Amino acid sequence: MTTVTVFHCSDLHFGHPAVPAQYEAMETLIAERRYDVVAISGDLTQRARSGEFQRARAFIRHAERTSKVLCIPGNHDVQWWKAPLGLGDDGAILASYRRWVNADIEPVLRVPGAVFAGLNTSHGVTRQTLTWRLRDISIIGIVRRAQIERLRKVFTDVRPDDARVIVMHHNPMKGELSQRHGLKDTARALGAFADLQADLVLCGHDHQDAIHYIEHTRKGTVISTAGTLSNRMRGGRPSSVNSIRISPDQIEVSTLVWSDSDSAFVAGPVKCFKR
Ligand SMILES: [Fe+2]
Ligand SMILES: [Fe+2]
Repeated sequence: MTTVTVFHCSDLHFGHPAVPAQYEAMETLIAERRYDVVAISGDLTQRARSGEFQRARAFIRHAERTSKVLCIPGNHDVQWWKAPLGLGDDGAILASYRRWVNADIEPVLRVPGAVFAGLNTSHGVTRQTLTWRLRDISIIGIVRRAQIERLRKVFTDVRPDDARVIVMHHNPMKGELSQRHGLKDTARALGAFADLQADLVLCGHDHQDAIHYIEHTRKGTVISTAGTLSNRMRGGRPSSVNSIRISPDQIEVSTLVWSDSDSAFVAGPVKCFKR
């Protein structure tokens, strides 16, 4: 029976908000625990600058020494001003991400016991992300119909026992403190994930860690929202990452919480769900 171990972190924000002691501790943790998969759910940078991407690239290379790494972009990694509202070259908005991190913005990773599918929800400023809250125009995430169809293809030949995992940036569940969804049209997206029989969704963006379980007719979906590894955690809470074990009959999510006094991540709450 195969068990898959996953290190889920998000919103590293390399640049001013990143805290060196925290990402160094994270590198140590990944090297020691030798996770099968390290999933980074976007916002690698603060302003999509080359120097920030280079630091993120070094972090990814370090993790690749022991684990398979899957990463997708977040809204901070998009240079939306290069093609607002589809004006100009649409490909330009993620050119830096592609150059420094991965040319594939929606990678798929197959390991024994699970399939991980990247889903890019950061499309810059488009007609769908326009909102009356002007400061939000480049922040809101969207899932396009064609992307759901792509996921359906990715999951078609998955073995029945293998876990189906979606890695995306924007939180489909409302943050407890923010009281907001990062994703637009969450009911439609969550309905599509249920239809795809997704076992687990890994996301971030809210800067507050949370673990949810959504029950539906066929089976449930666990949603792991990782906090941030920067000094931008919501409500003055400590930074955290999620350590996940996917076994054939359950998914266990343990939150590892940053402790200033230990200068390390320490065990936090653990939640366990039947598959
Ligand atoms: Fe973020
Ligand atoms: Fe974000």
